[in-house]
Amino acid sequence: MSESPRKILVTSALPYANGPIHIGHLVEYIQTDIWARFQRARGHEAIYVCADDAHGTPIMLKARAEGIEPEELIARVRREHEADFAGFLIGFDHYHSTHSDENRYCATFIYDALKAGGHIAVRTIKQAYDPEAGMFLPDRFIKGTCPKCGATDQYGDSCEACGATYSPMDLKDAVSAISGARPIARDSEHHFFKLADFEPFLREWTGSGRLQSAIRNKLNEWFETGLADWDISRDSPYFGFEIPGAPGKFFYVWLDAPVGYMASFKAYAEKRQLDFDAWWGAESDTEMYHFIGKDIAYFHTLFWPAMLHGAGFRTPTAVFCHGFLTVNGQKMSKSRGTFIRARDYLDHLNPEALRYYFAAKLGAGVDDIDLQMDDFVQRVNSDLVGKVVNIASRCAGFLTKRFDSALSDHLPRPDLHQQFVVAGDTIARHYEAREYSQAMRQIMALADQANQYIDEARPWVLAKDPASADDVQAICTQGLDLFRILTMYLAPVLPRLAERAGRFLNREDLAWAAREEPLIGGTIRPYEPLMTRIEPSAVEALLDASREHLAPTPTGPVDEPATKTPNAAAVDTPDSGSPAMEPIADTIDFETFARLDLRIARIAAAEYVQGADKLLRLTLELTDGEQRQVFAGIRSAYTPEALVGRLTVMVANLAPRKMRFGVSEGMVLAAGPGGRDLFLLSPDAGATPGMRVK
Ligand code: MSP
Ligand code: ZN
Repeated sequence: MSESPRKILVTSALPYANGPIHIGHLVEYIQTDIWARFQRARGHEAIYVCADDAHGTPIMLKARAEGIEPEELIARVRREHEADFAGFLIGFDHYHSTHSDENRYCATFIYDALKAGGHIAVRTIKQAYDPEAGMFLPDRFIKGTCPKCGATDQYGDSCEACGATYSPMDLKDAVSAISGARPIARDSEHHFFKLADFEPFLREWTGSGRLQSAIRNKLNEWFETGLADWDISRDSPYFGFEIPGAPGKFFYVWLDAPVGYMASFKAYAEKRQLDFDAWWGAESDTEMYHFIGKDIAYFHTLFWPAMLHGAGFRTPTAVFCHGFLTVNGQKMSKSRGTFIRARDYLDHLNPEALRYYFAAKLGAGVDDIDLQMDDFVQRVNSDLVGKVVNIASRCAGFLTKRFDSALSDHLPRPDLHQQFVVAGDTIARHYEAREYSQAMRQIMALADQANQYIDEARPWVLAKDPASADDVQAICTQGLDLFRILTMYLAPVLPRLAERAGRFLNREDLAWAAREEPLIGGTIRPYEPLMTRIEPSAVEALLDASREHLAPTPTGPVDEPATKTPNAAAVDTPDSGSPAMEPIADTIDFETFARLDLRIARIAAAEYVQGADKLLRLTLELTDGEQRQVFAGIRSAYTPEALVGRLTVMVANLAPRKMRFGVSEGMVLAAGPGGRDLFLLSPDAGATPGMRVK
């Protein structure tokens, strides 16, 4: 291939800095990393940048709940994210943060340019305000009754029961998820990006082959609905960048998040002395691709290109959306142990196994992909260990033992070598088109062919006859040559395996073009297993470990109730002391036990208690209308918004207790040593409020 080198910038979406990387995220980082590595193997200049998305209300509140500054939280999470990504061999050229000087500079620059172009409007709007917490409330932090269908416990923007969307001010019986107070309407001046100014540009931009058809169809719906002004400012208190010339107003997190791509590149360019304008200027002849999940397409296909265009920058060459990961056919779930954190996976399994499995499942579309645990084990063991690595282990022994590790000086079947080389063109087309599953399928078909060749040539039979020594050496050399080509094709997916194979064969050049040269002459190094089988017990151990982390992640996907945790200890409401009591060691008789009235309860509301840094005030709903107020010492582990709506177990017949802050009418049950490691019990799916626990 004599394509001239392309200059390509690739990005993955910036993960929020308030939760751990999980295997759902990894679909995207692995997909992008494979593509970037592939491009580099083809001789192109591919730069892959990313960053933590560090701003916004949830991060501010999470830091507050932990009693630390947001800067401290985001620094810690960034370290964790970077370690997780490194563990999965995600080869960023640079990893940055949206809370950085470069990002402040770029976001401000873009905002100023849009303003100068007349694309920013300022007007006063009414918004829900929490008088107790002293802040405006994002829609997701307001709960109440749907104005259309009357369903209770709905978010401020839309009803999960009837699908209605509305303004939080229309919600009935609205409460703030932060303080439990009733929100009031309050005026505030906001800054808007006039998206409609860019409609002609966007219609042209989105229609010119930059988007997948499913996304383009979605966009056409959005065009039909009309492009509304986008509210890009938020009032203090907010963790973000203050808007220049507008004291007390901050850029909305989604304004400066995509700018983080630019900022990360800028930091990298400074380090490497690259010409920033050559990559981001309106006249740039480089390519730029964003890999994202389909949930955030709106931001990347409308706001972001319009912002760039309006501020005089180049726009993305294309935006590549992928679907969502399910595990065993269902949404990731903490109770089933399928909400798997990157770190837990790395503690139990080989990162390349997941990289391969995702590659084997990923196409260019936006379909969801399913991680079927049994299939995962079977697929990795049979394809990578059984087919690919097996070729090397079959051939290496003969060469080491009988030929002093020397390769033959010729291949008995040059045509087979050539066939493998030619197949690389199709495989490359699949990679280029992000049809990784097709690429993997073809590579495995070649692996089958290589094994078949060895089966038919039967070196182990020939080895018995000293007169056939040359043939044995040549057959094994051919086997390793085919193996080498396979590892080069797999290198974007399995960079570590390919590198180790290269060392074993004394051919470390993994460039796509280098496959053409036959592996003959020279010697090999001692063979060490390049990949071992996944034991199903390791998967079990991973699922068990995942069940142990039941602490809520505020931005994680909606989870279902968790199973009971062992070592339950009642979480009392001590005015003074430690949140969790030790389990009682002495035995009790059955009668005593039977007198306990344990009930399933729904946490209808949760709020901070002024002046009590350990407590949350919970409103527990037992059956329709029956509510209990309970003060629980769980603030160190939970924010109110993480609790509202979930089910838990309460002691319902505890004598009411008068506390400094009010009467506590029961207890909730949680487990763990305390502090951040405190886990509220939840029933399995199907339980409903009021059910008796027995
Ligand atoms: N911070 C924003 C992105 C800003 S980009 C300028 C965000 N962060 S996120 O942490 O919620 O998600 C990061 C990426 O991971 C998104 O592209 C999202 O679609 C993807 N995924 C998160 N959960 C996922 C699955 N379960 N499956 C596949 N991808 C998922 O959104
Ligand atoms: Zn409704």
